[in-house]
Amino acid sequence: MLATAPDSILMGRHVLHVPDLSATEIDVVIRVAAHLKITRTSDQQTLLRGKTLGMLFEKPSLRTRVSFEVGMTQLGGHALFASGGEFMVGSRETPEDAARVLSRYVDAILVRTHAHEPLQRFSAAATVPVINGLSAVAHPCQALADLLTIKERFDTLAGLKLAYVGDARNNVAASVAEAAMLVGISVNFGCPPTHRPSEAFLAQLQSLGAATGATARAFSSAHRAVRDADVVYTDVWTSMGEEHLAERNAATLLPYRVTGELMSAAAKHAIFMHCLPAHRDEEVAPDVIDGPQSAVFDQAENRLHAQKALLVALLTDLRGMPV
Ligand code: CP
Repeated sequence: MLATAPDSILMGRHVLHVPDLSATEIDVVIRVAAHLKITRTSDQQTLLRGKTLGMLFEKPSLRTRVSFEVGMTQLGGHALFASGGEFMVGSRETPEDAARVLSRYVDAILVRTHAHEPLQRFSAAATVPVINGLSAVAHPCQALADLLTIKERFDTLAGLKLAYVGDARNNVAASVAEAAMLVGISVNFGCPPTHRPSEAFLAQLQSLGAATGATARAFSSAHRAVRDADVVYTDVWTSMGEEHLAERNAATLLPYRVTGELMSAAAKHAIFMHCLPAHRDEEVAPDVIDGPQSAVFDQAENRLHAQKALLVALLTDLRGMPV
């Protein structure tokens, strides 16, 4: 049912990492995303008419850049892309000055950057919503798209089990786990000690899951982590900016490659997820990522729908949306 005067619970907020959103707010974004996914884009053209999203990218991107730009176009708005040295958050001028200036031109700002701290300073000074399009510690937009994908496959979120195998310290692992815990999905990490989440982070996850009963545990055995999982998730072994560690990571993480044999330890109905880009025959075997259990291209598509929902939630009062 479409509400006529919904609460504008997210309007004007920043989203730098998943815990900036409550479980209820995540549910709203997922429901709006599902609604936008089945609505004709010709009916969406007034939702963000006249609005501009500034996109500042200091790292390469295919999915994040294109899905946000297309999303703004479909919603009747405009996206302005700047990369490399055009806007270096925190080097050419202070993050605060850049944020104050940009807030006078655009209606929201998407930042893909390296360190998280300049992004926090940037958002503290911005007077329009700031969205993290990936930083060293978080990738909240990916996590929202992933929840939409899991919900589509299982028709529910609470009570499911997700196994994250490989580099369990990276930004995607952190955001996916935080989002999972908030909505009631238990998380098992399968990783070597070198790539294990810190005890402090595991404790934070436990507190995010306190309301739902979801649990977060780390195992050194990939098979143990994956046992009975509904979702098996992995990501590249070496994150952007850490290329000097690639050789070491390849050796250490080899036992954590997602193969058909590892998938057979998960639930029969389990899906395979990866945020992409992927390296076949490194973190995942080709027959898994290209096989029937793979949900990776639904994930990639859902970046578009989840981010459109997030933009509508941050920039409107959600009138007419299913909240
Ligand atoms: N998953 C993801 O963020 O993809 P891009 O790096 O291509 O944006």
